[in-house]
Amino acid sequence: MSVEAEPLSIASPSVDDAKSGPRREVLSFVRRSGRLDKRLQKAWDCYADEYLIPLNESESSLNVREQLIFDVETIKQYWGNHNPLIVEVGTGQGENIVAAAAAHPELNFLALEVYDPGIAHTLLLAGKQGLHNLRIGQLNAPDIFAHMQEGIIAEVWTFFPDPWPKMKHHKRRIIQDSFARAVSAALAPQGFWRIATDIEDYALHIHEVLDEMDCFTNVGNLTVSLPIEHVGKGTAGQAVNLPHKDFIESERFEGRVLTNFENKGITAGRAIHDFTYRAKATS
Ligand SMILES: C[S@@+](CC[C@H](N)C(=O)[O-])C[C@H]1O[C@@H](n2cnc3c(N)ncnc32)[C@H](O)[C@@H]1O
Repeated sequence: MSVEAEPLSIASPSVDDAKSGPRREVLSFVRRSGRLDKRLQKAWDCYADEYLIPLNESESSLNVREQLIFDVETIKQYWGNHNPLIVEVGTGQGENIVAAAAAHPELNFLALEVYDPGIAHTLLLAGKQGLHNLRIGQLNAPDIFAHMQEGIIAEVWTFFPDPWPKMKHHKRRIIQDSFARAVSAALAPQGFWRIATDIEDYALHIHEVLDEMDCFTNVGNLTVSLPIEHVGKGTAGQAVNLPHKDFIESERFEGRVLTNFENKGITAGRAIHDFTYRAKATS
């Protein structure tokens, strides 16, 4: 497969340009063909068979097979046990999920990512450490959640999702009502969805989508003041003058390592927003 995320600084094509196979949907990433350098290609060749799990419709598709049911048997098949499963959505270079998997051999981890270089780098890190509790799905993450058995995941992590800063692209942000409902159904009762962003406007977006949902409780313990109107890329500086309101967020999740993305945000002087939502038991 050859997929590379488009750097966000490049003008984004229209939504219609970003197709994933025959289905037309609003995607949170852009497909581009991409190449791996020698080191990453070697990692791919050495480790893809061990870590990449074949859940896709076809080799060139980022959608999962129509008939797939991701259930306890799937976990047994690919991880060889029934340990609790943690799923990270948009793992980038894999620094975080690999560190977590190395620190917690008693848990299973699934990395979901679309672009080749990030996956190859994750393969490199995991392969070098000989991890046995990590698997990788090269998939459009929301698609697999629609195929999951209810309550099968212990935790979902979404750290530094692509910000889609222009107003007209806010609909491409991965955290949306329909995705949140699928995550909540896949989470075990009381399971956590941990999220972090360095983009203030995305923090507001997360509160708008998740705070009032009947299937999640915001269990944070910090009060954070945020503007209550949206800004886009060119108007972000105006946020400070907008009316503000208090929201509940969380302390930094101690299970998250500092990735390049987070570091860039901190270096640019942006505040990091952490969120912890607990899935409510469905009756
Ligand atoms: C800004 S990066 C953050 C990466 C990582 N979480 C970190 O903190 O370093 C967001 C990542 O999400 C991935 N992504 C975006 N939409 C996705 C989707 N629908 N399914 C899987 N991965 C996705 C992108 O390819 C990108 O690697």
